[in-house]
Amino acid sequence: MSHNCSKFHGNFMNQQHTSRYDFPSRVFHWVTAVVVTIAFVLGPGGFGRLMREGIDPATRSDIVWHESLGILVFALTVLRLIWVAFRPAAPQVQMASWMQLTSKLVHVALWMLLLALPATAVLALGSKAHPLTLLGGVRVDQLPLIANASIAKLADWGDVHQFLGDAIMWIVGLHAAAAIYHHLILKDGVLSAMLPYKWFR
Ligand code: HEM
Ligand code: HEM
Repeated sequence: MSHNCSKFHGNFMNQQHTSRYDFPSRVFHWVTAVVVTIAFVLGPGGFGRLMREGIDPATRSDIVWHESLGILVFALTVLRLIWVAFRPAAPQVQMASWMQLTSKLVHVALWMLLLALPATAVLALGSKAHPLTLLGGVRVDQLPLIANASIAKLADWGDVHQFLGDAIMWIVGLHAAAAIYHHLILKDGVLSAMLPYKWFR
């Protein structure tokens, strides 16, 4: 695979031999990574207790930011999946088949978590009749479609959401460690393919 063929291609649709992801894929990846990490840090602990004490979640900036960034992750993921269907082929790096398979599994797990986190959050709020409170004063007090659906009673969706929130960070840790291993040990260009700039080559 050529190291510099994409350097001469201003148009990202024209990268049949590129060694990097197209520009929108790289932007989606890193914006999502930053937004997910901030949302995780702001994850509201003791949410159930606050609700029992009658505290309005709209008065808590950590909750309002957490929910807004989480909805942003959902929007970015839907747009990104649409882009994945139309974008130029992702760079193919030669590697052992077990490694190819593991990387596919980790990516599928990450995609599913990016969708399951907002879904379980909305189920958690809807099933307990807690308001969804976003930046800009946006507020949805009831989600009757969810409250009345049988799925609402299947689980404590707040617990499931919290578990998945922890799980995505563990899997991201594994994913980032793999990227660094590819870069430092295998030196096969996998990390450079996703970096926003040509830092390494
Ligand atoms: C990238 C997406 C998200 C991540 C990584 C994430 C992560 C987390 C984590 C780790 C917690 C538990 C915090 C703790 O107990 O210390 C949590 C709780 C919570 N999150 Fe999210 N979240 C995401 C998206 C959302 C969205 C989109 C909403 C709302 C629409 C939301 C609403 C909540 C609520 C209400 C709780 C409290 C749940 C409860 O204890 O019943 N989250 N989140
Ligand atoms: C919340 C954080 C992150 C999430 C949710 C995430 C998710 C993903 C997803 C879904 C893909 C497939 C992308 C596509 O096909 O367009 C991907 C690829 C990739 N990610 Fe991440 N990522 C995160 C953080 C990181 C970090 C911290 C690193 C590096 C240290 C990293 C390095 C890479 C690389 C190198 C690829 C390309 C892998 C390949 O072509 O086989 N990611 N990531």
